[in-house]
Amino acid sequence: MKQLISLDINGRVYDLAVSPRDLLADVIRRKVGLTGTKKGCGMGDCGACTVLVEGKPVLSCITLAITCNGKKITTVEGLALPNGELNPLQAAFVNHGAIQCGFCTPGMLMSATGLLNRNPKPSIYDIKHEMSGNICRCTGFKRIIEAIEVASETGVK
Ligand code: FES
Ligand code: FES
Repeated sequence: MKQLISLDINGRVYDLAVSPRDLLADVIRRKVGLTGTKKGCGMGDCGACTVLVEGKPVLSCITLAITCNGKKITTVEGLALPNGELNPLQAAFVNHGAIQCGFCTPGMLMSATGLLNRNPKPSIYDIKHEMSGNICRCTGFKRIIEAIEVASETGVK
């Protein structure tokens, strides 16, 4: 039986009828229509589906939507500046060649945002540790780590 839940996604409140087994990733992508959040493995292994729930990174492919009732969720669509430009972290990814096919990028950005929310000046070790759950098959990780380091130096949140 469906239940009504309310999700605040990127500052907009969505009232949604979901089944208790519906996964947050599927609700965000299919019911809300925000397809920036990617679903790769669907098993909690790759990090592509990472979103922020109350500011903390969460794997939306293994999170039941119903457990997020009433919570604030941020997806990659919520990162841009109010004028629509890329925020400094997104810009650093572009400027440092940290994106190739782009499939992992939304999850990378959300994990990095969660890290910088918690620790605005992370060490390289902190960055590597935080990003260890996000897999990229294209870039080799080095440029992603560098982009996050540069963004932290410019004070991105
Ligand atoms: S799709 Fe969620 S961890 Fe891979
Ligand atoms: S840029 Fe292709 S998987 Fe990371």
